[in-house]
Amino acid sequence: MKKLKNSILQIILAIIVILALYACGQSQKEEHTPSPPITKAPPEPIIQEKLVSHPVTKKTRQTYQWYCTQCHGVKGKGDGINSPHVTVPPRNHTKASYLETRSDQELFDAISEGGLKIGRAPCMPSWGNTFDKETIWSLVRYIRELCKCEAV
Ligand code: HEC
Repeated sequence: MKKLKNSILQIILAIIVILALYACGQSQKEEHTPSPPITKAPPEPIIQEKLVSHPVTKKTRQTYQWYCTQCHGVKGKGDGINSPHVTVPPRNHTKASYLETRSDQELFDAISEGGLKIGRAPCMPSWGNTFDKETIWSLVRYIRELCKCEAV
């Protein structure tokens, strides 16, 4: 009777071991299946795309008229009502020969963080806390309209 019990136990143990081995084999197999190829993250959108997606709208013109003209002038010529009172004359946004030398990113930084950020006078205020990025990019686009120029 005891012998029978022992051999039944042995058989059960053997089955457990076989099952365990089988299961291990399975999981190892899974581990070794090749992982799917890593897909490359899409590249950062280039500045040109940012500008295209933020065109000049009625709101852009209104923003410029409301916030920028006191210094830069109604037509952007740098002759706003406050222009005689700032130590450095506000930039003439219609002057292509100068604006061609500035990249869109530099104009964006100047508007967003003020003149100091790009090595210009601090009397050009920073607007990063007033407008969202989209509005600032559209202002860059508007300045490009005023100067009828692009960065070279
Ligand atoms: C308080 C007056 C003032 C106001 C308001 C003002 N600016 Fe200016 N801005 C200046 C002055 C002054 C400069 C010239 C800084 C220099 O040349 O050192 C300047 C320069 C700039 C430049 C040229 C930076 C460069 O590369 O030389 C840009 C672009 C500009 N302003 C955009 C704007 C926009 C857009 C607004 C409105 C949201 C605005 N400014 C409002 C005073 C002002």
